[in-house]
Amino acid sequence: MIVNIDQKYINAIKFGEVVAFPTETVYGLGADAWNPEAIAKVFKTKGRPSDNPLIVHVADPSQINDFASSIPEAAQLLIEEFWPGPLTLVFNKRPEVLDAVTAGLNTVAIRMPSNEIALSLIANTNPLVAPSANKSGTPSPTKYTHVKADFDDSVLIINGGSTQVGLESTVLDVTGTEPMILRPGVIGKEDIERVLGQKISVDDSNSEQPKSPGQKYSHYKPKAEIQWLNSDHDLEDSSSLFLLLNTEFEQSNIINYDQDFDLLARELYDRFRQADIDGYKQVVIEPFDDRYESTIIPALLNRIEKATSL
Ligand code: TXA
Ligand code: MG
Repeated sequence: MIVNIDQKYINAIKFGEVVAFPTETVYGLGADAWNPEAIAKVFKTKGRPSDNPLIVHVADPSQINDFASSIPEAAQLLIEEFWPGPLTLVFNKRPEVLDAVTAGLNTVAIRMPSNEIALSLIANTNPLVAPSANKSGTPSPTKYTHVKADFDDSVLIINGGSTQVGLESTVLDVTGTEPMILRPGVIGKEDIERVLGQKISVDDSNSEQPKSPGQKYSHYKPKAEIQWLNSDHDLEDSSSLFLLLNTEFEQSNIINYDQDFDLLARELYDRFRQADIDGYKQVVIEPFDDRYESTIIPALLNRIEKATSL
């Protein structure tokens, strides 16, 4: 499917402006990956720390060659299986890649999103850097209205409705002999191992020096406090919004997910943001673990843990 992108968005990117656009994961704040002034605007607009590198979004796998110094065989296999889609690959970078993109690292992160608006915008311009289109510190945006709430009229926003996945892409480093997940996402460890026919590792994101610099920042937090449900909680407490996995109760402050973790992932950041708008003081989530067979569980646990602890 070819979607037409209004020329004003294409021109804005070409003139070095930032444009927010939908991807299948979350909305991104896009800028030309070869324009240092445009990239500087991304950092300034978001209030993003300059030591946090950006993902380059491409419209075709062949565009990797402009950024990566080589494409390991593992990456080749994963691209064939999962692109376009929510998998970001970290490559050794070519020397021409701007320092503003990589925050001075010698690697560059690249993904090809599957959202048609994103693909068409990139195909009509250049590869785009695109962090999540939220102010640093707020939950990533999964709806047009979220981007609008954070930036109002200060950036152009392409409305693509709600995103499908709802959590950011899996980030996988393929520069070593054993690939390593730096940020969990809907494409899980087992999915990747199945394609590669080898075991891969997962970076301990609690370490002081995570390999994916963004993992040390809290991106996911609303004003309401995020808590795991425990026996001290009272479902009658109207200052708390409860996200439960299986319940008979029907109350306006209780959302029943019926163990649909994909739906919880899709809605999580919207629930966080809406909780603030509705004046809830806490968002209380029923605990779960990876006993349930859904590839998104490690990613959900990662985002919720960050929101509860920071
Ligand atoms: O789903 C997504 O990935 C969304 C959409 C818009 O594509 N983008 C996104 O971007 O989540 P951002 O900037 O919010 O997160 C990028 C993550 C950060 O944790 C960053 O540290 C990591 O990717 N990253 C970027 N370049 C890296 C590199 N060269 N090495 C390791 N980690 C890198
Ligand atoms: Mg982000």
